[in-house]
Amino acid sequence: MNPQRVAAIILAAGKGTRMKSDLPKVMHRVAGRTMIRHVLDAAAPLAPVRMIVVLAPGMDAVAKEVAAQEAGGAQIAIQAAPLGTGHAALAARPALQDLLAGDGLDDVLVLFGDTPLLLPATLTAMLTERRRAPEAAIVVLGMRPAEPNAYGRLVCGKDGMLEAIVEAKDASAAQREIGLCNSGVMAIAARHLLALLTTIGTDNAKGEYYLTDIVAIARRQGMPCRVVEAPLDELVGINSRADLAAAEAIMQRRLREAAMAGGATLVDPGTVFFSADTRIGQDVTIGPFVHFGPGVVIADRVEIRAFCDIAGAHVASGAIVGPFARLRPGAEIGADAHIGNFVEIKQARIGAGAKANHLSYVGDAEIGAGVNIGAGTITCNYDGFTKTVTRIGEGAFIGSNTVLVAPVSVGAGAYIAAGSAITRDVADDALAIGRGQQVDKPGRAKLIRKMRLAEKQRQQMKVKL
Ligand code: UD1
Ligand code: MG
Repeated sequence: MNPQRVAAIILAAGKGTRMKSDLPKVMHRVAGRTMIRHVLDAAAPLAPVRMIVVLAPGMDAVAKEVAAQEAGGAQIAIQAAPLGTGHAALAARPALQDLLAGDGLDDVLVLFGDTPLLLPATLTAMLTERRRAPEAAIVVLGMRPAEPNAYGRLVCGKDGMLEAIVEAKDASAAQREIGLCNSGVMAIAARHLLALLTTIGTDNAKGEYYLTDIVAIARRQGMPCRVVEAPLDELVGINSRADLAAAEAIMQRRLREAAMAGGATLVDPGTVFFSADTRIGQDVTIGPFVHFGPGVVIADRVEIRAFCDIAGAHVASGAIVGPFARLRPGAEIGADAHIGNFVEIKQARIGAGAKANHLSYVGDAEIGAGVNIGAGTITCNYDGFTKTVTRIGEGAFIGSNTVLVAPVSVGAGAYIAAGSAITRDVADDALAIGRGQQVDKPGRAKLIRKMRLAEKQRQQMKVKL
């Protein structure tokens, strides 16, 4: 198979009213990634020569998402009015014209923007099936939902060949009994595409241009059409928030399985939530109730203990994080470092073997190797206007409850006394004490107690009188 000769059209002009949202449907996220990106990512391994996303006018947020480089540089086509899936597919014509006019394409895949769980292997299987002799004009991806309800039914002949797709609203009672349904995904022979699409009419229950009609049109011209079946959990379509949650559950199951297959131990997999891009190394242990936002890379032999929230962070090998730690974007945790309970790290590099084990905020900071950050230490990185940086040199020891008022640096090997407010730079190997002097008054506590007691007794006497 020559993968260079495939184009993909992704239909996403529908508003998705049932989501009850200001966001276009395909901008909702599954495992932290927009639906439209999931669909583009599923097609990308086929190395399509072009991907075209069909949008309605004004869907600028989607256009921006699609144009992003990580999305593979797909193009946009605008469907001026929502006249049906056949009409939407035809809206991609101007963007495909040059490839269709030459001999540049074998297959055009049509995908829906709201089926984010589709896997690349399924698309590859469809292309293989379409190109298999005798070459099919169309291969439709079929599924067998427990309740076919509104799905189009795949009508097959005795030989198993696909004869037509009948929409539920147009189906006879007998056709509605068919369990094999249209997922919406199709692979179409590029050389027949325009002739098929331009033949579609609107003589149906909805008065729309049905893309599904191209099967019957192809059959009338004697072209073979076939079905490839895929498991339901790849073809879940999202129409509501409930569907979105169901898709999230399936995606999380896949991501957990992938992490475990890659050599990570998930103590209670059902309570660990990954993002689509989370990268987990080997011999990593992840405790219960851990959430990974986007952009996380965890190296080998890391231990993530229970109840951590981690996003945009890199954790090097052998580090221990949690329980109850929060790593925010820009956190770079060095090898064998320890980040303990109720510690928040943001935009900070923590050196190898450094420790911040309890109750700290470290933000906009460079922490050297082997530094010990005592309980309750805070970097004051923000003065209400700008963010400034705290630097701590290798092997420094920061006493408990230290406040580091940035911009400030603490030299390598320095000691900061507990309870200090550090506002000036501290030299290497120096001891800095930045707190009020302790004053001791012998016997004063006893005296105070005596006076207070006498006062209380006087008050009680007054009440009685
Ligand atoms: C469609 C199929 C049906 C299939 C089902 C699977 C048709 C006629 N029917 O029905 O056989 O079982 O999907 O989910 O194709 N869209 C546009 N422009 C339009 C209309 C739709 O871009 O004018 C896009 C939507 O954004 C969506 C996709 O096409 O991504 C499918 O549209 P939808 O209205 O959901 O089709 P269904 O009625 O579900
Ligand atoms: Mg639909």
